[in-house]
Amino acid sequence: MLTWDDPLIASNREHRPAPTADAAPPRGADRGRAEAALKPVDPRDKRVVNGQTDINQLAPFKYPWAWNYFLNANKNHWTPLDINMTQDVHDYHHRLTLEERHVYENVLAYLTTSDILAMRNIGLAVMEKMSAPELQIYQARQVYEESVHTWTYQHCIETLGLDQGEIYNRYRVVPEIHAKIQMSNERLSSVLRPDIDLRDRDELHNFVLAYIFFAALFEGVWFYNGFSPIFALQRRGLMKGTAEQLQYIMRDEVMHAGFGIRVVRQIMLEENIQPDARALRLMWNEAEAVEAAYAHFILPDPILGYSAEQHIEQYRFVANRRARQLGLDEPFPGAENALPWLDEQANLRKEKNFFETRVTEYQTGGALNWD
Ligand SMILES: [Fe+2]
Ligand SMILES: [Fe+2]
Repeated sequence: MLTWDDPLIASNREHRPAPTADAAPPRGADRGRAEAALKPVDPRDKRVVNGQTDINQLAPFKYPWAWNYFLNANKNHWTPLDINMTQDVHDYHHRLTLEERHVYENVLAYLTTSDILAMRNIGLAVMEKMSAPELQIYQARQVYEESVHTWTYQHCIETLGLDQGEIYNRYRVVPEIHAKIQMSNERLSSVLRPDIDLRDRDELHNFVLAYIFFAALFEGVWFYNGFSPIFALQRRGLMKGTAEQLQYIMRDEVMHAGFGIRVVRQIMLEENIQPDARALRLMWNEAEAVEAAYAHFILPDPILGYSAEQHIEQYRFVANRRARQLGLDEPFPGAENALPWLDEQANLRKEKNFFETRVTEYQTGGALNWD
């Protein structure tokens, strides 16, 4: 029976019955095993996947960087209700051109479907395969953040009075959006099966590839670049509320990509496995093809300060950066930074008035370190 005064003592008493006069102490090998079973987990025994240690013991950490990700993520606490959208309602209905509305709506339609996928991937396919709790803790936070991102798009769609049934269905009826979602869905389905055993090298390799896809490409490139058309509007004084929302999301996504890349590198090290170069080449190429089609769909003609060609070149440039972070060869050597202002937009330390625009202040720590 628990007592609310000191539930720990009560539960210890429940789980460790007092020895009775009949109970003989364990001897020899039995005694050694019993003592080993009661020792704290040795962090050196922890593994990212396929570990055998007790998953319920958080510390000592083997991966202290994962715990730091969790602490840092909690400094970026916000909700979409914190940001004033009044001017966006006016901008959307009275200032945006038809071409700019087309860009805005389709970017939202793509992003909102993508964030559902991101949440399902990390929460259902990835987290359960981790065998160290400090990794799962940050991923649990990530699941929450993806749901806040979905809330954010919904808040924008609702506030502007867009047709929800139509916007949310675009990924199914617009081929250029559908192709990106389909590529992601296929990767997700390949690792969202109950019968996966990561001690099987083929399964492990497929999991590594899928993790690279979601962390480095889907979050690290597609999301990173995905916000840029809205930031291009923001730079001209349009849709600034939406852009501010996306800056918060972008900060989360940079963390998600950084964390995922670090996890993948650790798996490659611990499991002595490298992604197949040909499979990677196919992934980057397929992603480039669907991204190019998407860019030409949202930007059949350039809007002021932003073109499809710039978007595609930026895809290649950021893809190279993510590959370097993974310790892999650049897929598009020589690609140029077509949107040099995008990194500035991502780095909130340089946005001097950013937090002054917030209705509620959650930020309690210093600026995040992006390095
Ligand atoms: Fe997200
Ligand atoms: Fe994410």
